[in-house]
Formats: sequence, structure tokens, C-alpha cells
Amino acid sequence: MYCTRNLSDSVYWVGGCDRRLSLFENLFPIPRGITYNSYLILDEKTALIDTVDASVSRQFLENILHTLDGRALDYLVVNHMEPDHCANLEELMLRFPSLKLVGNAKTFGLMQQFYDFDLSERMVTVKEGDTLSLGSHTLRFYFAPMVHWPEVMMTYEETEKLLFSADAFGSFGAVNGNLFNDEVRFEQEWLDDARRYYGNIVGKYGAQVQAALKKLPGQEIRMICPLHGLVWRSNLDCLLQKYDLWSRYEPEEQTVALLYGSMYGDTENAVNILACGLADAGVKHIAVHDISSTHVSALVSEVFRCSHLVLAAPTYNGGIYPAMLNFLHDMKALNLQNRTVALLENGSWAPTAAKQTRALLDELKNIQVLEPVVTVKSALKGDTLSQLSQLKDSILASLAG
Ligand code: FEO
Repeated sequence: MYCTRNLSDSVYWVGGCDRRLSLFENLFPIPRGITYNSYLILDEKTALIDTVDASVSRQFLENILHTLDGRALDYLVVNHMEPDHCANLEELMLRFPSLKLVGNAKTFGLMQQFYDFDLSERMVTVKEGDTLSLGSHTLRFYFAPMVHWPEVMMTYEETEKLLFSADAFGSFGAVNGNLFNDEVRFEQEWLDDARRYYGNIVGKYGAQVQAALKKLPGQEIRMICPLHGLVWRSNLDCLLQKYDLWSRYEPEEQTVALLYGSMYGDTENAVNILACGLADAGVKHIAVHDISSTHVSALVSEVFRCSHLVLAAPTYNGGIYPAMLNFLHDMKALNLQNRTVALLENGSWAPTAAKQTRALLDELKNIQVLEPVVTVKSALKGDTLSQLSQLKDSILASLAG
């Protein structure tokens, strides 16, 4: 049975939610599920903006058949060719023999890589800034390459001022009926998942997100309609400002995330003492994460939130503790930058983790490492407690900056 929501009298949400999938892209935990958004515009011509993942195909088809109410589907705009949004292309082409697919040259190149169906007579190839009239609605196409694949474009509907933004402005999490941002408590319920989605899915492409954002201000936007998560119809500046910060790799908050690996609790003890010392000095919204039991996507998300990081881990097999090494590799892969980092290492006979960590951090852009680097030999003692106190003061001075 159909399950839709109205964006307006002529624009409908016809997507679906998957609460069964545990790992998005078979990588990222999504305990709150995921939403695949698709939008249908009814005018003299009908146009669908993207499709959905195969997991919600049945719901999706029921939604569009109900909404079309016997009409044909004239256009399918393909803003993004990743399979979580285009799994239903062939099904729609079979059901609607006159359906035209709207995309750019790269869209159709990828389409032919993924699928075998015949595209002749079906393609409407658009260029940057081209328009497509549906009657009283007009679609204008803006290219947003690498947000998050090279073919990505955004579609702006000029009459109702709707921005169909592809992966940009999306989030992990299944919507609970409440599709619109003003129906939920975004900061409490959605921001962490929106940040984790951005950081891990789009985070590497900050420059490309900035380029896309620069195309937007000339157009009035009444709603932002992404491919995942909430539809924004109020307080758009909140989301635009977050994206501006994230894509410039600027932190949301002047605060500290302490990320530690600890085999027997001694490194953890030092981290807890440091966290309490920082809190005593007035630092708020501190995060402490055990990197062995916290998914790396959540650690990446904390980097996007916090201005300062404490990286604390033992030396392991003469190298960096594996969970920390994995996190550092992700930081590099996602192009993370502009952070202040404090280092704490542990080693019972030959501590070298901090030196090796610093070498990896040197490969990132604009990472400042604070002094002193604290070396714990097995467990915290008087002299290392003193070093830890100096490091706390150094972090506080930097925060006050
Ligand atoms: Fe939700 Fe890049 O696909």
C-alpha cells in the first residue's frame, strides 16, 4: 500500500525507508536505518526526481503508481547514478515505454557501465544551467561533480523554489513519518547522524561542496530536498551553515575529542584524568571514545565537530596501535585538516607510537601538534602526571587562543 507525503499540491515524496540494513555501503552502521528519497512532480508533464534503492522498490512503485493515478511518467531526472538511487531505472522504463531519462553526459556513461538496457531514444542530455519545462514548473540543472560522484547534479525547480540536492544535505536515519525538519528536534535527534553522513560520505570533497554552495545563493530556495533524510522547509540557514563549516573543515565547536586505544586500562586512565582536568577548567561538550569499540565513522564525525583532538594509544608491535592506525588512515583518506592535536603514547619498553603518529599527521593539511607529547611507561606515575597537567594547560591555552 502506498505511503507518501505532500511537499505541495503538485510535488510528492514517494521514497521509502529501510530499517533492516545494518551497514550503509556495507561499511557504515545505521542503527536508525536509512531513507531513500524520491520526488514526483505532477504538471502538464510528470517528472520523477531520482529513484530509490532496490530494498524499497516495492514501496516506491506503489507510491508512484498511486500518485500518478493512471497518468504516464514522462521524465525521470537522474541526479546521481549510485545504485542506492537508481536501482529502479529499468523497471520504470519497462512500465512507462515513453519515459525519457534526464541526465548529463557522465550520467549516461555510468548508466551504460551499470546496466545493459537500450538507451537510444530515451536520453535527454542536459548541460549546466539547462532547463526543462513541465508546464507551470521548470527544472534547472546545476552540476555538482564529486558531491559525491563525478556525474552528480542538483535540480532546482524554479516555480516552487525547490532544490533537489542529491546526496548533499542528506543524513543517515530513517524518517519516522516526520519527513520535514520542522517536525523533528534536529539538533537532538538528527545532527549527529547528519554530520556522520557528511563526514564519511561527502567529507573528502570539501572543495567541491564549497563550489556547489557558491552556485546556490543567487537562487531563492524554499525547500532543500536531498536523497537521504529530512526535507528542509524552514531554518535552511542552519543546514547551510553546517555544510559551509564542514566543507571548509572548520570545527563546529571549540572543544576536545579524546580518542584512545587502551589494552589494559592505563592509557584510558590517563585520558580520563585529562578529560576531567579539562572539564574542571570549564571545557564543555568533551567527547571521549575508545577507538577499539567505537566505529571509525563516529570518530570521523567527532573530528568534524571538535576543534581539538587528543590521540592516545599504546605502541604495538613497534608501531601505532592498529585501531589508531586505521583511524589515522581514514583521516587522511577523508582529507581532514585544520585541527589542533595533542598526543599521548604508552609503551612499556620502547614507546614510538607518538613519533609515528606525528609523521602521519604531517601528511595532513594544517594540523598543529601541541607540546608536550606525553609518554606513559606502562602506567601513569608522578612525573607523567606532571606532563599530563602541562598538556592540559597547553590544550586550554590553545582553546582560549
Ligand atoms: Fe546516496 Fe552517493 O549515494
